[in-house]
Amino acid sequence: MNDRELAQALAGAGQGHVLRWWEELTSAQRQKLAGLARQVDLDQVARLAEDVRQGRLKETLSGPIERPAYVALSDGEDLEREANRAAGEALLRAGKAAALTVAGGQGTRLGYDGPKGTYPIGPVTGKSLFRIHAERIQATGRRYGHPLPWYVMTSDTTDAPTRRYFEREDFLGLDRDEVFFFRQGMMPALDRHFKLVMTARDEILMSPNGHGGTLTALADSGALADMERRGIEQISYFQVDNPVVPAADPVFLGAHVRAGAQMSSKAVWKREPEEPIGAFVRSGGRLIVREYSDLTPDEMRQKTPDGRLLYGLGSIAIHVLRVDFVREETAGGLRLPWHLAEKASLVLDEAGRVVAPSGKNVLKFETFIFDALRDTRSSVILEVRREEEFLPVKNAVGKDSAESCRAGMSRLHADWLEKAGVRVPRDAAGQPLHPVEISPLYALDAAEAAAKVTRALRVDGPLYLGPDGVRA
Ligand code: UD1
Repeated sequence: MNDRELAQALAGAGQGHVLRWWEELTSAQRQKLAGLARQVDLDQVARLAEDVRQGRLKETLSGPIERPAYVALSDGEDLEREANRAAGEALLRAGKAAALTVAGGQGTRLGYDGPKGTYPIGPVTGKSLFRIHAERIQATGRRYGHPLPWYVMTSDTTDAPTRRYFEREDFLGLDRDEVFFFRQGMMPALDRHFKLVMTARDEILMSPNGHGGTLTALADSGALADMERRGIEQISYFQVDNPVVPAADPVFLGAHVRAGAQMSSKAVWKREPEEPIGAFVRSGGRLIVREYSDLTPDEMRQKTPDGRLLYGLGSIAIHVLRVDFVREETAGGLRLPWHLAEKASLVLDEAGRVVAPSGKNVLKFETFIFDALRDTRSSVILEVRREEEFLPVKNAVGKDSAESCRAGMSRLHADWLEKAGVRVPRDAAGQPLHPVEISPLYALDAAEAAAKVTRALRVDGPLYLGPDGVRA
C-alpha cells in the first residue's frame, strides 16, 4: 500500500485524522507514521468498535457457574504423584519439553523503566528476574541430562532492550542456540469515539496485544516450527514476573501428559476474595478463567456450599501447553476473544498539544492465553503451595511488590536450610533476620539443598549460596 492508498484507506475508515500533520512532517517522520498506520488492521478496528458499542466484549456466562475439579495439595508423596513425576522426568530426559516466558508487558505498575525481566530481584545478589529464570533453566537441563530450550516472548516495547541485555550478559550462562526470542503483535488503542489515538504528530498509540498473542506469535515467528523440529511436545509456560516458578516441573508435566490434556494450569487458593488474580470456574461445559477485574464485589465474596469461595481457585499464570494444541489453536488465525481495558494515557489534542489524562481516556484491546482453556477437551488443574511457586513482582510497594517478593524468597530459602538442619534466626513474624538467597545452580529445591549444605552452616549475616557454595 503506497502513501496515497494508505491515506484513502484511513479516510474511508473514518481515521483520516492520523495524517492531520502529514504536510509538516519530515520524510523520516512520515515513514515512521505510515509504518505504524500500516500495522493497523482497519477492518479489525471497525469490528472491535462495533463490539464495544453493542456491549459484546462484556462476557455473560451461561448456565450455572461451578468450581472445576482440581488436584488438591497432598502433603507427602503418593502413588499418583510419583507416577506423574516419573512421566514428567522421562519427558525432560528425552528433551521433549521447552520453557516459555512471556516478557512483553510494560511493567507500568512497577514504575520501572525497562523490560521487567531485567529488574533486580535477588534478595542478596540483586540478580535480575531473567538471570534467575536462566539459572533455573540451566540447572533443570543439567538435572535431566538434556538442555531445556527457552522461548522468550517480547513485544515492540521490550524486544530490543531484552536482546541487548542477553548479549551484554553473555546469554546469562546459557547456550545461545537454546534461547529463542519471538515478538508478540501490537494493537492500536482507541479513544471514546473509536478513533485511533495519537501521542505525537508522527505516532499512533499501540500496545502489546496481550499474552494471548503468544499463540499466534509462536506460529508466525517460526518458534512453533522450531519446537516441532526439535521434537518438543510440551511447553512449560510462565510469566517473567515470578522468580520462584519452576522452569519445568516434572510432577505438573507428568500429570498433564498422563491425563492426555491439551493445556493445564497451576492454582493456589486466593489469599483474600479481592486478590487480583484470575479464578478457575466451569460454566456451560467449559473451563474458564474469570479475570479479577471482571468480578463484582458480590461475586468475589460468593461462596459454595462447602463454605469456600466460588471464585477462590486462583490462576497463577503457570501452564503446560501441548505443541500440537497450539498448532490447532492458531490454524486460521487467532480465535481467542478480545478483552477491553480502559486506561489513562497522554494523548495529542486536536491542536497538536500533548495533554495529560484527567482519568481513563483510552480503550486497549488484549487477548489472554488462559482463554484457550475453553477449547480443551481435557485439562488438569494442580494446586501448589503459594510460598514455593508464586511470588510475583507487580507493584512498586505493598502486596506483590519487589519488597514482598524478596522477603518471600528469603523465607523460602531459609525453610530449605532449616529442613536441612541449619539454624536460621528469625524475627517474631517468622522473617529471617538476614536475607537468604540460594541460586538455582546450587539447588533447585529443598531436597537438593539438603543434600548439599552442612548443618554447621551459620546464618549470621546475608547469606548467598551460589553455584560454587557459600558466599556471604
Ligand atoms: C495476570 C493474569 C491473572 C493472574 C496473574 C498472576 C492477565 C490478564 N491476568 O494478571 O489472571 O492471576 O497474572 O500473576 O494476564 N504480558 C505480555 N504481553 C502482554 C501482556 C502481558 O507478555 O501483552 C506478560 C507480562 O510481561 C507479564 C504477564 O504477562 O509477565 C502478566 O501481565 P500483567 O499485566 O502483569 O497481568 P496481571 O494483571 O498481573
